[in-house]
Amino acid sequence: MSKLDSAGHSIHFETRLAPLMEILESGKYSKVFVFADRNTSEHCLPLFQEMLDDFNGFDLIETDPGEENKNIDFCIGIWKTLLDFEADRKCLMINLGGGVITDMGGFVASTYKRGIDFINIPTTLLAQVDASVGGKTGIDMDSVKNMVGTFALPQAVFIETEFLRTVPDRELLSGFAEMIKHGLIVDRNYYNELKESNYLDVNPKAIYNSVVIKNDVVTEDPQEKSLRKILNFGHTIGHAVETYALVKDASPLTHGEAIAIGMICEAYLSQKNNTLTATDLEDISNYISNLYPAYHLKTESFTELLALMQSDKKNENGQIMFSLLGSIGKCDFNCRVTESDILESFHYYNATQQK
Ligand SMILES: NC(=O)c1ccc[n+]([C@@H]2O[C@H](COP(=O)([O-])OP(=O)(O)OC[C@H]3O[C@@H](n4cnc5c(N)ncnc54)[C@H](O)[C@@H]3O)[C@@H](O)[C@H]2O)c1
Ligand SMILES: [Zn+2]
Repeated sequence: MSKLDSAGHSIHFETRLAPLMEILESGKYSKVFVFADRNTSEHCLPLFQEMLDDFNGFDLIETDPGEENKNIDFCIGIWKTLLDFEADRKCLMINLGGGVITDMGGFVASTYKRGIDFINIPTTLLAQVDASVGGKTGIDMDSVKNMVGTFALPQAVFIETEFLRTVPDRELLSGFAEMIKHGLIVDRNYYNELKESNYLDVNPKAIYNSVVIKNDVVTEDPQEKSLRKILNFGHTIGHAVETYALVKDASPLTHGEAIAIGMICEAYLSQKNNTLTATDLEDISNYISNLYPAYHLKTESFTELLALMQSDKKNENGQIMFSLLGSIGKCDFNCRVTESDILESFHYYNATQQK
């Protein structure tokens, strides 16, 4: 049980929601809304209420699960529901769910009547170690991820690893990719510990470690002007692969599966364009390839992948920017890479999948 200080709010860890009970009993809020998707209202809401002594003084706003619903149409529905419930600016929204719910709930809350308070209770591994920390909210537009959004801080974040019990294995593996990334960019020992662990039964201490790493980075650079960019390791290529797979593949990749591919490619670029050693590159690609399902980057997708990277909103002056490892545990940002090296990294990735 512990508490981390983040910009203007706290991240409470394994408290069984005791500080939330205090907030709810403080009388500060005119109304309380819980925002969940159908899965989290089935699997997480009962536990949420149990932790709060059967608290039922809230209205539930439920949405369909999945990234495809993280869009403006669903936001309009939620804003209208808030209006129907006569929600004023003193109401509180509790986002109970994965990253789709914390991103979209945070966006809706930060814009409804110019902003109401919200609290994040992330219920997937990915949301616990990544999405719920750092103040980014947002929704997708067409197939462009997180195209519209705000930087808005929750009143508090509550991380309860008990919620993870019902998370599907594939979703656990997805979140685990962000934990591997945290080790690779900041802490070699942590990366080595993760290599010894099992993603199906992640130690709460490891989750805490990841939250500390993410929180430290975003606290130092909340608006992503510099250091925060290291969190994009694996994401420049990973996001392009994720979008491509979503549009073109019969069964899309999870975010973490795409980031795993991106991390192998970008580790290759780190060896070619930065100081990552060949031994460390091999270590990273062996570990990740063994853990994640095999995938093949089709030659006919290369042009589109490059085009997707070109349109990444993190680029500056039309130049694709990478965050590359200097070693395991150290990451640099604003690295430029040639197109032919990016293509080489795709071939390198494909070769790792043929072992
Ligand atoms: N804001 C940020 O900084 C940030 C960072 C990383 C990712 N994200 C966003 O997070 C989203 C991905 O998050 P995600 O992987 O949590 O996706 P998600 O919210 O879609 O959750 C994945 C699936 O698990 C279900 N689920 C959630 N909790 C469950 C539980 N405890 N038991 C059973 N099922 C459960 C959901 O209903 C969903 O079907 C993306 O939209 C991404 O853009 C945001
Ligand atoms: Zn990510």
